[in-house]
Amino acid sequence: MTTTGIPPLPKAELHLHIEGTLEPETVFALAGRNDVALPYAGVEDLRARYDFTDLQSFLDVYYANMAVLRTRDDFAELASAYLRRCPEQGVRHVEMFFDPQAHTARGVPMADVVGGLTDAVDAHAGEVSAGLILCFLRDQPVAAAEETLRAAEPYLDRIVGVGLDSAEVGNPPSRFVPVFDRARELGLRPVAHAGEEGPASYVREALDDLGVLRVDHGIRAVEDEELVARLRRDRTPLTVCPLSNVRLGCVPGMALHPLPEMLAADLNVSVHSDDPAYFGGYVDANYAAAREGLGLTDEQVVTLAENSFTSAFLEPAARDAFVGEVRSWAGGRPA
Ligand code: HPA
Ligand code: ZN
Repeated sequence: MTTTGIPPLPKAELHLHIEGTLEPETVFALAGRNDVALPYAGVEDLRARYDFTDLQSFLDVYYANMAVLRTRDDFAELASAYLRRCPEQGVRHVEMFFDPQAHTARGVPMADVVGGLTDAVDAHAGEVSAGLILCFLRDQPVAAAEETLRAAEPYLDRIVGVGLDSAEVGNPPSRFVPVFDRARELGLRPVAHAGEEGPASYVREALDDLGVLRVDHGIRAVEDEELVARLRRDRTPLTVCPLSNVRLGCVPGMALHPLPEMLAADLNVSVHSDDPAYFGGYVDANYAAAREGLGLTDEQVVTLAENSFTSAFLEPAARDAFVGEVRSWAGGRPA
């Protein structure tokens, strides 16, 4: 139940970087515990730096803060803190991104990263179902992505897919064909960030060259009519993060966000939070932005929630059960 007494709309969170849930207070708590020196005077000083101008200005702080994550328990606590929030947000299923290269490069073993995250997933299995998506850092060499995939092979039973994130412009999806080929051979589902800051052509490349099953962000696809027609025809899921797009300057303001245009074009969009500790809110805040900032109707908001489940890597029975929950929620609400 929420404070209003109305249970929250059931939804799946498909675009969430678990490291992006690292709240400023936790940065300081972990820094103290792990003896990591921070270049900030305190929590408020750190928060004051969350005034981003573009994707890179965010990534600089995001990677710097991760230095406090050192042990298996740190990763378990990070993910547990997130998963604890899920019920109050109506989040019934999560497919969370993680960035192993940002940790293994600091000497943290892959076993501790995946082990800590899965400890949390298992501990919260009664409240929310959760899977992991291993992201490759596209601003690093392809060989580093290949090495990362090899290091993850012992844990593949706990990983549902692979993704591609970090600095987009100048790092097109086509660079990563060999490692995505290998990931697909291993049975991992491919997704990629594309068309966030980068051009619509990167969305095409993600589809054509990497064979992605979902496009993360994809907002710049609207600049290419033919691509929009293709995405509509194929029902390609696009995981859209309105607060992130505004905070990183990918759109000039909420009122100009293309989500209404994407819905009007009958694209398979859903709404998510990206890096909620940095962008002003978790998935409910993104739904609120869609409803209030973009004027979406109740029906459109329910469509977003249904899409979140149909776009998830769920077994058909589980997917249908979740969609049923969305429909009963919608049916039980006063018009
Ligand atoms: N874009 C690209 N890479 C990222 C993001 C994002 O929004 N968040 C964390 N890594
Ligand atoms: Zn993202």
